[in-house]
Amino acid sequence: MKKITHAVIPVAGFGTRMLPLSKSVPKELLPLGNRPAIHYVVEEAIAAGIKHIVLVGHAQKSAIENYFDINAELDDQLRRKGKEALADSLNWLPDDVTVSMIRQGRALGLGHAVLAARPIIGEHDFAVLLPDVVLDPFTTDSQTDNLAFMIKRFEADRHSQILVDQVADEDVHKYGIAKLSADNGQINSDDTPINASFKVAGFVEKPNLAEAPSNLAVVGRYVFSNQIFDYLADTTASVGGEIQLTDAIDALISEHGVNVTTMCGASYDAGDMKSYMQAFIYFAKQQLANDD
Ligand code: G1P
Repeated sequence: MKKITHAVIPVAGFGTRMLPLSKSVPKELLPLGNRPAIHYVVEEAIAAGIKHIVLVGHAQKSAIENYFDINAELDDQLRRKGKEALADSLNWLPDDVTVSMIRQGRALGLGHAVLAARPIIGEHDFAVLLPDVVLDPFTTDSQTDNLAFMIKRFEADRHSQILVDQVADEDVHKYGIAKLSADNGQINSDDTPINASFKVAGFVEKPNLAEAPSNLAVVGRYVFSNQIFDYLADTTASVGGEIQLTDAIDALISEHGVNVTTMCGASYDAGDMKSYMQAFIYFAKQQLANDD
């Protein structure tokens, strides 16, 4: 049985909700406490067994690629000055993990960004992690457990997995919202007390409250069978004039099973100024308390 070892992280967006911070620094490199936001997302992928990470980027985002590369001159200088521990801490990426970047070209939407990774992903099934969403690495198991659970379920039945979480009524318009199967379709109630999986009938991207089929919002973690690429290739622009990932998922659902998994623990939105600032305070407090 083939394991999930590849993940796509789309990082091409301009981060307009994070201006002026994101004008010359990619929003993914803005700090959450003492590390850039994307550091936690890559750690999460690695904790779930991912070995090949594909960043889908843009000319202005090459600083992200540099963050995951070895800076040999800096490394040499730190070691010459006896700062071995600091140099070691910068080389935290395991030797068997690769991070590569491919360009999206025109930014035509999230679905288009995921499709741009196809030349590197090839025939593999793969995960997608949206870097605006950072799962709590401190007080809950969310950073280590959610993606690992989704991968385990995918490897058991090869059905694509989408992570969802309850959101307040006033927030449904910001997300892709899941419509569960009419029979409720819970698949694994006795499998785990934390995450539960359900069959999903479809998604509505950024609905108004009256149109929202539930309060279960797509969090930004997906595990896809490779077939999603064929559906993405056939997806045209819709909501917001963008090629939406949720439209391709809907097409996938009509021919193959797709499940949603409920999130355990907490997530933080690092792509919106107000919630980013709250997340920064939370991460910094945790690290100050842990003397990290
Ligand atoms: C994207 C997805 C949406 C999902 C959200 C999670 O929207 O299209 O389905 O709920 O991420 O953050 P975006 O926030 O990129 O507009």
